[in-house]
Amino acid sequence: MPYERVDNLNANANDCQYDYAKDETKSMNDLFDISGKVALVTGGSRGIGEMIAEGFVANGVRTYISARKAEACDATAARLSEIGECISIPADLSTLEGISALSDAIKERESQLDILVNNAGAAWGAPLEEFPESGWDKVMDINVKSPFFLTQALLPLLEEAASAADPARIISIGSVDGLNVNRLPNFAYGPSKAAVHHLARTLAAHLADRNITSNAIAPGPFPSKMMAATLEKYGDQIRAGVPLKRVGEPGDMAGVAIFLASKAASYVTGVVIPVDGGIVGCAGTL
Ligand SMILES: NC(=O)c1ccc[n+]([C@@H]2O[C@H](COP(=O)([O-])OP(=O)(O)OC[C@H]3O[C@@H](n4cnc5c(N)ncnc54)[C@H](OP(=O)(O)O)[C@@H]3O)[C@@H](O)[C@H]2O)c1
Repeated sequence: MPYERVDNLNANANDCQYDYAKDETKSMNDLFDISGKVALVTGGSRGIGEMIAEGFVANGVRTYISARKAEACDATAARLSEIGECISIPADLSTLEGISALSDAIKERESQLDILVNNAGAAWGAPLEEFPESGWDKVMDINVKSPFFLTQALLPLLEEAASAADPARIISIGSVDGLNVNRLPNFAYGPSKAAVHHLARTLAAHLADRNITSNAIAPGPFPSKMMAATLEKYGDQIRAGVPLKRVGEPGDMAGVAIFLASKAASYVTGVVIPVDGGIVGCAGTL
C-alpha cells in the first residue's frame, strides 16, 4: 500500500507530546524501589544467587531462596533474615519432581510472584576425549532444562503479579562463556549458557503480551564455589584479562539484578546484559 502524503508535518504534533506532568516516576526511589515485591532466587544459598538475594532482601523484597543442600540454604536464609525477609525452600531443581515441589511450596505461601531469578547452575570440566555423558546431562539439566520448566510451573504466579505499568520479571543467569568461547575444557557449560541467553529471549517474545519481561545477565568472573579452583589457579591471568582489571563484587551483581527487577527496567525485555568488567564489550582483534 503506498504511503499517504503528509502535507502538514505539524498537524499531529500534539499526539507526540509526552505528558510529563502525569508521570510520577521522576525520583531514584520511584524508579528503583523494589520494596514489597516477592522474589524467588534459585541457587540463592551461595555465590551469585546469594549476592542477588542479599540485594533484594536489603531493599525490602520478600525473597525465597532454593538449593539442594538444606542446611546451607537454611543458614543463608537465617543470615539474610537479620536484614529483611528471606525464606529457604530446599529442592533439587535438576528434576521435574524438585521443580514441582518448589513451585507448589511457593504457591502455598504466595498469591503472586514478581521476580523469578533462574540462577542455579553447574559446570563440568574434563578433557574432550573423556568428557562423560553424565557431566553433559548434569550441566544441561540444571542450566537449561530447569529454568524452562521452573518458569512454566510458576507462570500463573508471575501472571498474577504482571501489569503493563510494572511487568513481572524473569531474570536468567547466563555467562560470558555463552557469548565468548572459554578455552577451559568445560564443553557443555558454554553451549548451555548460550542456550540460557536464547531461552531468555524466546520467553521474552512469548511473554511480552502477558506483561512479563525476560532478560539474562551474563556474568564475567565472580568469586564463588564454582569459580574457586579456577580463580586459585588462573586468578592473576583472569584479572589481567578483564578490561577493568578485577573480578566482580556482590554490589556489581545485585545492582544489575535490582535494575532489572525495578520500574526502571519496565521497558527492557529480551536482552542479555554482560556484567563482566568489559570482557565482552571491549573485545577486539588486537
Ligand atoms: N561465578 C562466576 O564467575 C560465574 C560466571 C558466569 C556465570 N555464573 C553463573 O552464575 C550462577 C551461579 O553460579 P555461582 O558461581 O554462584 O556457583 P555456586 O557458588 O556453585 O552456586 C551454585 C548455586 O546453585 C545451587 N545448585 C546447584 N545445582 C542445583 C540443583 N540441582 N538444584 C538446586 N540448586 C542447585 C547450589 O546449591 P546446592 O549445591 O546446595 O544445590 C548453589 O546455591 C550459575 O548459573 C553460573 O553458571 C557464574
